[in-house]
Amino acid sequence: MDAAKAAAAPVRGSVTMLVALAKADMAEVDRLIGLRLQSPVSVIPALADHLIAAGGKRLRPLLTVAAARLAGASGDNCLKLATAVEFIHTATLLHDDVVDGSKLRRGKVAAHLIWGGASSVLVGDFLFARAFELMVEAGSIRALDILAKASSVIAEGEVLQLTRAHDLNLDQATYLEIIKAKTAELFAASAEAGAVSAGAPEPKVAALRSYGLNLGLAFQLTDDALDYSGVAETLGKNAGDDFREGKATLPLLLAIARSGPREAAFWERAIGRREQTEPDFRRARELIVGAGALQATLDLAADYAWTAKAALSIFPSNDWRVALENLADFAVSRSA
Ligand code: IPE
Ligand code: IPE
Ligand code: MG
Ligand code: MG
Repeated sequence: MDAAKAAAAPVRGSVTMLVALAKADMAEVDRLIGLRLQSPVSVIPALADHLIAAGGKRLRPLLTVAAARLAGASGDNCLKLATAVEFIHTATLLHDDVVDGSKLRRGKVAAHLIWGGASSVLVGDFLFARAFELMVEAGSIRALDILAKASSVIAEGEVLQLTRAHDLNLDQATYLEIIKAKTAELFAASAEAGAVSAGAPEPKVAALRSYGLNLGLAFQLTDDALDYSGVAETLGKNAGDDFREGKATLPLLLAIARSGPREAAFWERAIGRREQTEPDFRRARELIVGAGALQATLDLAADYAWTAKAALSIFPSNDWRVALENLADFAVSRSA
């Protein structure tokens, strides 16, 4: 097998195949990203490039490209949309790190610690605005509508989450509503917009939206598990941020629901009353693992990944479909 074929061979739980298939498309997306983050106001490209040059998995633009290609697109309609999607994602990361007080992003010092929170938020706004310019240029009012709606839903999810921090009694349905809004909606919209740009028939547009939505739920559930089990070197962000912020994520909620009186007092102090000391995170991690809450979170993520893959059954089994199936497995098995 030659090198190109070997790179494109399916590997379960890996994005290698998807990255290989989308190589030419993503090279153009990366070129557009570099071009469109330019501004005569030098802090803007400096700050944006700090984050963008650090890499990131580029999953959402990959999703837009893959959805378009799976739906039969041969032209380049999807590339400006894919660029817009990554700009929307990058904007939310800039805002999110200010909101969450996170110190590490993509293995680098968070932008707000270098340029300050105000510049970080404003450059996030700039990237959002540039995303909308790109979407208008892409020329599909429907794709614009899909991604505009997703943008407001993300903000709703982030605000809803903020109002529910430190809530030990948060119900699972509300938790799922939060992660759907703040994360899964953009995955859904990225795939749906790609399908729309390809002129796909409605059942295929709906299938790709469903794939993206379930993939996004699996992705965020796994992310919430990794916040307790991951390591900064591979994650590129610090573990323990959710605990320190008192974020009511599923691993925490399940551990609380399964705890006895001694543990209940610990959770009430550390999360409810926000009184934390240095060793508390380690204890929280032990309790969460001991209660089987981490495994239960990953099991639920695997369920959503399975549903995502099932949504693709409407498509013939070709390389793009297999690559998206692998992406669903990756969302759950990943460590970065
Ligand atoms: C981070 O997303 C935000 C979440 C939804 C958890 P990614 O893990 O896709 O971030 P990058 O783009 O690869 O850095
Ligand atoms: C992810 O938020 C969703 C958005 C950025 C909108 P999180 O706060 O859960 O993700 P990380 O852990 O900072 O990447
Ligand atoms: Mg965060
Ligand atoms: Mg957050």
